[in-house]
Amino acid sequence: MSSSPTLKTAASLPQEVARRRTFAIISHPDAGKTTLTEKLLMYGGAIRSAGTVKGKKSQQFATSDWMEVEKQRGISVASSVMQFEHDGCVINLLDTPGHQDFSEDTYRVLTAVDAALMVIDAAKGVEAQTIKLLEVCRLRRTPVITFINKMDREVRDPLELIDEIEETLGMPCAPITWPIGMGKQFAGVFDLGSERMLKFTPGESRPETDLEVLEGEDHPYLVEHFPIAHATFKEEVEIVREAAESFDHEAFLAGDLSPVFFGSAINNFGVRDILQALVSWAPPPRQREARQRTVRPDDGAFTGIVFKIQANMNPQHRDRIAFLRICSGEYRQGLKARHVRSGKTIRLDHAITFMAQERAHLASAFAGDIIGIPNHGRLRIGDVITEGEVLELEGIPHFSPEIFRMARLNDPLRAKQLNKALLELGEEGTIQVFEPLEKTGMILGAVGQLQFETVAHRLQTEYGVDAAFESVPVHKALWVSSEDIAAMKRFTQANANRLARDAAGTLAFMAPNRSILELTIEKWPEIDFNSTREVG
Ligand code: G4P
Repeated sequence: MSSSPTLKTAASLPQEVARRRTFAIISHPDAGKTTLTEKLLMYGGAIRSAGTVKGKKSQQFATSDWMEVEKQRGISVASSVMQFEHDGCVINLLDTPGHQDFSEDTYRVLTAVDAALMVIDAAKGVEAQTIKLLEVCRLRRTPVITFINKMDREVRDPLELIDEIEETLGMPCAPITWPIGMGKQFAGVFDLGSERMLKFTPGESRPETDLEVLEGEDHPYLVEHFPIAHATFKEEVEIVREAAESFDHEAFLAGDLSPVFFGSAINNFGVRDILQALVSWAPPPRQREARQRTVRPDDGAFTGIVFKIQANMNPQHRDRIAFLRICSGEYRQGLKARHVRSGKTIRLDHAITFMAQERAHLASAFAGDIIGIPNHGRLRIGDVITEGEVLELEGIPHFSPEIFRMARLNDPLRAKQLNKALLELGEEGTIQVFEPLEKTGMILGAVGQLQFETVAHRLQTEYGVDAAFESVPVHKALWVSSEDIAAMKRFTQANANRLARDAAGTLAFMAPNRSILELTIEKWPEIDFNSTREVG
């Protein structure tokens, strides 16, 4: 770990805030997220060569036993954070787990960003995980930039791809560039605004600044070398100009329109367009609502919210890192802060930032940045840190789990330890824990299967509890509430065998199947059934 501050900071707080861009990169596995991340980092000068991001897993975390789960499965359990500078902007890039067994972590990362970059495999189109992730973006009205990747392969018709994004994801698209050909006949992309074509030249490490620019739709080079691709392109562009949405910055910022770029990440082609869009169009840090007031990023006082906990990154210290998004003000080393949930004062001394290849201690950071705070379990997801003020920020939701299990102990004498461990892991946000009112044993809920593996591993290594998981007859858990106290009491009495409390004590209805869920919702109109619950 290096100890030097990572960024030179002489500017004022509003200037620093204005030049921050914080975004997540989302995609279905294999669409090219890792490749694109790598190219973005190369542009930003954060890494020098390809292969670094992938290599990171085995090098940097080789000593972490918790990461064994990741190594065994060859996947990225944890979302990571990377920071680099481009064109005067400080860019915070948050990765999301790249496996379909993704977890609540993935969702939570999306609560910490101001924009998202969606990568689509041009051969496959919109895939399952993209749909789920985009739902969260839409819910939060997060602006989304779309990158249609792998144009150097035989892929699907680009018009069809745009239709699919619009229909399946419900996201109107504004093409900014348009491809000319594909696969071996991929000639390049045409910028619909400037009417210039960027000529495609394959090559991984070639800087994109070397690319040749050709003026106009009918450049002789195109007509001569790619006659068929050129003819198809002309037809498509005519349709796009007539039928497609044109780019509207306000609509993009409201999450109602996505600018679309085509390219090939592996060939470092189209990456510069993306960075340019991030710098010029993506919003700087946005204000956040707290129960008490609106928190503006350039408010002088520091405010931050924990959106992710990573346990045991360094097994020698058995530490935890709380990932905190700075919502306002500036972090300075040694900051005396208030931990709002406990009311205690904590000194923030050793916050770290995450560069592509290393973690570094940092002296200061600003609204929009993500910092890591090492701690021993005091900080939980949803916790707010301020410079003294009591603020309850809204924002980190729990999503209704989709898979349910019950822990079965291989050593029955460890029941007490198991309960304690599950409650702690529940509080930390690793898994959702529901305790039935009738005390029939704790039920665990997760968004992805992988969460159970992580829990099993941590139970063993951190708590010395050997447990396996078995299925339980729960189809869905919905949080219940009502303003009608008498109705809530009647509902609770009538359904005690199907009610449980989560780690925060909130009541949830554990439906054994869809028809019972539908019947219950119909029978109890006074009760609200919620599929998300905010932490706090
Ligand atoms: P992910 O993080 O979204 O899961 O995807 P990743 O970047 O790992 O890319 C998945 C596969 O797609 C990789 O091939 C990668 O090389 C390839 N790929 C990414 N971008 C492009 C592109 O623009 N064009 C083409 N043709 N391929 C691309 P792999 O064989 O699975 O892995 P590897 O052995 O190349 O690492």
